[in-house]
Amino acid sequence: MTILIQNIKKLVQVEETPRKWVTGADMASLNTIDNAYLLMQDGVIKDFGTMDSVPKIHQSAQVIDAKGKMVFPSYCDSHTHLVYAGSREIEYVDKIRGLSYEEIAKRGGGILNSAKLLHNTPEDELYNQSLQRVNEIISLGTGAVEIKSGYGLTVEDELKMLRVIRRLRETTPITIKSTFLGAHAVPAEYKGRQGEYVDLIINEMLPLVAAAELADFIDVFCDKGFFTVEETARMLKAGMKHGLRGKIHANELDFSGGIQVGVKHNVLSVDHLEFTGNDEIKALLNSETMPTLLPGAAFFLGMVYPPARKMIEAGLPIALASDYNPGSSPSGDMKFVMSLACVIMRLVPEEAINAATINSAYAMGISDTHGSIARGKVANVFITKPMNNYEFMPYAYTTNLIDTVILKGEVWK
Ligand code: NIG
Ligand code: FE
Repeated sequence: MTILIQNIKKLVQVEETPRKWVTGADMASLNTIDNAYLLMQDGVIKDFGTMDSVPKIHQSAQVIDAKGKMVFPSYCDSHTHLVYAGSREIEYVDKIRGLSYEEIAKRGGGILNSAKLLHNTPEDELYNQSLQRVNEIISLGTGAVEIKSGYGLTVEDELKMLRVIRRLRETTPITIKSTFLGAHAVPAEYKGRQGEYVDLIINEMLPLVAAAELADFIDVFCDKGFFTVEETARMLKAGMKHGLRGKIHANELDFSGGIQVGVKHNVLSVDHLEFTGNDEIKALLNSETMPTLLPGAAFFLGMVYPPARKMIEAGLPIALASDYNPGSSPSGDMKFVMSLACVIMRLVPEEAINAATINSAYAMGISDTHGSIARGKVANVFITKPMNNYEFMPYAYTTNLIDTVILKGEVWK
C-alpha cells in the first residue's frame, strides 16, 4: 500500500537525522517543510521533500491532496490508564464540594473504587469499554499509547487488565505499550500490611506477568499515602530482573523522593512531577530518564502544576501525556494537553509539540520508530483541517482540527 500526500502547506516535525529526544533550549525549535509531499509505503515513511521534487508514483497508489492543510506526526501518549470499568463522576462532584484526592482515596473511593468496578466487569465488557476510548484517542490524533494496569490489585484482575491491553494491541492499528502497575494503591484487605502487598507483587504478580509477556514496563505510584521510596526501589529492582524497565508515578502529591529513586534505577520516565525543586532537577540532569508532565491531571484536580519552564531552562527535556483515567484525568485529548502546557505552564507551541511527539515517544521507548516524520519510521501521521500556522493547534483549544488520520500507512476509517 502506497500513499502520497501532496501540496502539504506545512509538514511538521521533520527529521533528516532522527534524535532520541529534544532537550532544554532545543525544545523551542521545530523543523518544518513548506509546500511539501510525504510518501508512505508498506506502513513506513518512505520519503518527503518539497513539491518541486515530488516523485512519480505508480497509478495504484493513493494520492491525497492536502492543499492549505498541515501534516503532523501522530501524538504519542506515554502515560494512560485507559483500560478501566465505568466512571467516577460522583467523586468529581465530591471534589467540587471540597474533598481532596487523598481524602476521597482514604474513604475507599479513588483507585479502590475503580478496582471494585473492574472486578465486577467481565473481560469482554472491559475490552469493549476500553476499545471505545482507544477509538476516541485515535480520532483525536494519537498514534501511540502506553496503557497501565493498576485497577486490578489482585493477581487475577491485574492479569485480566493486561490481557485486555494485549487484545487492544492485537485488534487496533494504534501502537500500544503495556505497563504493569500492581503498585497503584494498597487494596483494602492489605490495609496495615502494605509490605505484604509489595511481597505479593514481587513474588506472585511479577513472575506471572513476565512469563506471559504481558508487560513492557513496571510502574509504581511512589508518593505520600501510597508507596514509599524503599518499596519502590524493591519493586523496580524486581521488575528489572524480569526485564521490565521502570516508568513511575512520582511527586504528584509531595516531594516524595520518587524522582530520585527513579533516576537511581534508570527508569525510562518519571511522571507527574508537580512537586519538583532544585534537588529533583539536579537528579534528572545527565540522566536517561524523561520527566513527563500530565497537566490534564493538575487541571482536573485543581492542583499545582509542575514547574515546566524551570525544568526546560535548566536544560531538561520534557514529555507531555494525558494520564487518561477515571479519577484524575478523564480525557485523552493530547491537543488539549498541549494547550494546557502552553496556557498554564507557559510552554511555547514548539516546545509543546516536541513534548507531545518525539519526547513522549522516548518516554514509552519508541523514539526510534515514532514521534517524528523521518524516513523509515512508522507511518503514523494526521492531516489537519486548513490552517495557517502550527501555533493554531494549541491555540484553538477546543476545535477539532483533525481531517484525516493515517496509521501504519493506511487511512483510518
Ligand atoms: O496518574 N496518580 C495515580 N494514578 C492516577 C489516578 C488514578 C485514579 O484516580 O484512578 C494518576 O493520576
Ligand atoms: Fe497516572
